[in-house]
Amino acid sequence: MKAAPVFEAGSHRWWIIYDQDEHRVIDSNVYVMESNEQSIILDPGGFEIFPQVFAALVEAVPPSSLKAAFVSHQDPDIASSLPLWHACNEKMEWHIPKLWEGFIRHYGALDAPLQNIDDEGGSVIIGGRRLEFIPAHYLHSSANFHVYDPEAKILFSGDVGAALLPPGHDAWVDRRDKTGRAFAEHISKAKYFHERWMPSNAAKKNWIERVSQLDIQYLCPQHGAIYSGDNVKRFIDWFDKLNVGSATA
Ligand SMILES: [Fe+2]
Ligand SMILES: [Fe+2]
Repeated sequence: MKAAPVFEAGSHRWWIIYDQDEHRVIDSNVYVMESNEQSIILDPGGFEIFPQVFAALVEAVPPSSLKAAFVSHQDPDIASSLPLWHACNEKMEWHIPKLWEGFIRHYGALDAPLQNIDDEGGSVIIGGRRLEFIPAHYLHSSANFHVYDPEAKILFSGDVGAALLPPGHDAWVDRRDKTGRAFAEHISKAKYFHERWMPSNAAKKNWIERVSQLDIQYLCPQHGAIYSGDNVKRFIDWFDKLNVGSATA
């Protein structure tokens, strides 16, 4: 995996860590926000990819700057690395959905400091910058949050926006996509994921109303590639129209 910059304004930076070498497990993105020499890691990933993520993280920020981790929901590709990160830095605080505390403890590190996020959401301040925890329940997990950075205009959107891309993929859906052609090509790799993993059209509507009030320049999913500029609106409009929560059996 490798680290690439997403946003930079003075001491305020965002990074994506992406493109696993090992594809026996689902390809996942990890994000890092750094401000004034403090940092937070978002959806730090699975036990299996911890060495790759850690090696890439070192290219971006000193591991000693990590003050916190954010966990959008309980899945193993999000949080099963918890005991390994905790062994590296036992002071890191873990912001997790309150509903999932007893389940996330099954990953180990029973003494790790967990900060529960109530269903209404909340926020954390890292290096003087406030990140907001935006409720995204049932997208796809029953207690699920996204993270909004109002200064960088970044929405970390967890599994929403996810696409299943081949090895060697780019970190971005083409940033100069004037016509939407690159978006159309990309979204064909996102369709099945949303239809099958997102269970509720009502939850989807609720999320769309919530995020439509945010100024978003970069929509950053935990699988696939980043949507920027016009492609953010293209994605939200596409998701609005998609019928989700169906399986054939
Ligand atoms: Fe998930
Ligand atoms: Fe995921």
